[in-house]
Amino acid sequence: MANQEAFIEKITASYQPKGSFIYLGAGILEGHILAEAEVNLALKMMNRHGLIAGATGTGKTRTLQLIAEQLSVANVPVFMLDVKGDLSGLHQAGTSNAALEERGEALGKPFSPMGFPVELYSLSGALGAPMRLRVDAFGPVFLGRILDLNETQTGVLSVLFQYAEDKGLHLIDLDDVKKLLNYLDTPVGAAEIKDSYGKISSSTSTTILRKIVALEQQDIGVIFGEPAFDIHDLFEKVDGQGVISLLNISDLQSQPLVFSTFLLSLLDQLFSNLPEVGDQDKPKLVFFFDEAHLLFNGASKAFLGKIEQIVRLIRSKGVGVFFCTQAATDVPDTVLGQLGNRIQHALRAFTPNDAEALRKTAKTYPRSDFYEIEQVLTSLGTGQALITVLNEKGVPTEVVATHLTPPRAVMGPLDAEAYQALVKGSPLYAKYKEAVTKNNTLDVLDERLAKQKAEEQAAEAAKSRARASRSSSTQTPMEAMAKSASRTLGREGVKFLAKLGTAIIASLIGTKRRK
Ligand SMILES: Nc1ncnc2c1ncn2[C@@H]1O[C@H](COP(=O)(O)OP(=O)(O)OP(=O)(O)O)[C@@H](O)[C@H]1O
Ligand SMILES: [Mg+2]
Repeated sequence: MANQEAFIEKITASYQPKGSFIYLGAGILEGHILAEAEVNLALKMMNRHGLIAGATGTGKTRTLQLIAEQLSVANVPVFMLDVKGDLSGLHQAGTSNAALEERGEALGKPFSPMGFPVELYSLSGALGAPMRLRVDAFGPVFLGRILDLNETQTGVLSVLFQYAEDKGLHLIDLDDVKKLLNYLDTPVGAAEIKDSYGKISSSTSTTILRKIVALEQQDIGVIFGEPAFDIHDLFEKVDGQGVISLLNISDLQSQPLVFSTFLLSLLDQLFSNLPEVGDQDKPKLVFFFDEAHLLFNGASKAFLGKIEQIVRLIRSKGVGVFFCTQAATDVPDTVLGQLGNRIQHALRAFTPNDAEALRKTAKTYPRSDFYEIEQVLTSLGTGQALITVLNEKGVPTEVVATHLTPPRAVMGPLDAEAYQALVKGSPLYAKYKEAVTKNNTLDVLDERLAKQKAEEQAAEAAKSRARASRSSSTQTPMEAMAKSASRTLGREGVKFLAKLGTAIIASLIGTKRRK
């Protein structure tokens, strides 16, 4: 009992921010849920980023959901990657059931259903407003990653992008990149780029072209084009509630490289376009990256460097980023070190690798008077997590095993009809649904090639005219005919002599043999 009191006192002291906060749930000690030990996350600290980790089915996605819901109520817009297509239910108030009632009771807060403003986006355009980006905004490093280029080939792409920028050429979709690559492989283009930027080998161009075509064959080309997504649309608010923008990539699950790179590029654009705001009472936007291991798997050093840089710098723009993945060890140390708020769901220790990951994860937690960290991590139930966040002074809070509050909206997808109604009813869907192609900045390349061809043809014509006039000035038509006839005779004569020679040699050999 004394232990419980000490626990409640410590948790309450550690998790009572002065400003607005998100209520995550209540502390658990020795198997008891202690409703008084409220666990809160200060909105002020959400731009210090976070990690939500845990084995499959332990409640990670619903933790994302409950945080997103409360951000929306606090008038903070949210962007979420919906990998499995099971977050659209956020739009619809949940219905109570025994499990939810019980959870509410345990926490001393009755379940209160609510729906939220949701915008649906999709990369293919099939499951929401198409979210497109221009190739030149995407940039060579990201394009190189989705094309699976090596460093040399990515370097060539960088040169290509630089050239386009210097010459005022827009690269809007993949056709534009192909056109520029083809142009720079012609003698005119090659000479032009060689002078200012160095030679591009034909084989590298061909490889890049081949990979672009392969990407197009998988229908990935549609993510590039216009109208490009305007990042300011992520900051919408409706009736004092932040809009939750969901990017549903359930139809692109087999292309993790594509959607994870696309998202990183979106973050990059946020970072490049938003003004510095310093520390604020609440974030301007929170970005949730579910299934984040897909972002880090097989990433090159350059790409990891880019993630690390964006995460580090976007904080001062008022944007928080929360990664959600199975094991904390999925996240590289340089990024992990910047994730101040940690919500760790249960871990399993089935295999030696699991045990190793468990040990490593436990080590990253501050010491606790109340728990044996490794033991707690393996015994948490669904919808429970071991938490430590940053308090308003930026100091890590007391580690606490937490029984999480339930989300208020439906925990799953909307039904097909409601889903389509939500998509089609959105003004943003109307804004983005049709792709337009009106890039004429590259016409100059055609003109240059046409001019070059015309010049070559003119030069060729001038040459043959000169030849013709040379021969007509020295010979009469009769003389020309006579010359041509003697040339033909001459050729026939040579052939005749060669035949004669062969016959003589053959007869000589034949004589010898007969001897
Ligand atoms: N906070 C919560 N309140 C009520 N129920 C919850 C909560 N968290 C999780 N659950 C229950 O647990 C189920 C699994 O949770 P969830 O889908 O979030 O797991 P996950 O860790 O994201 O799994 P996966 O790794 O497979 O994506 C939910 O469908 C829900 O029924
Ligand atoms: Mg999940």
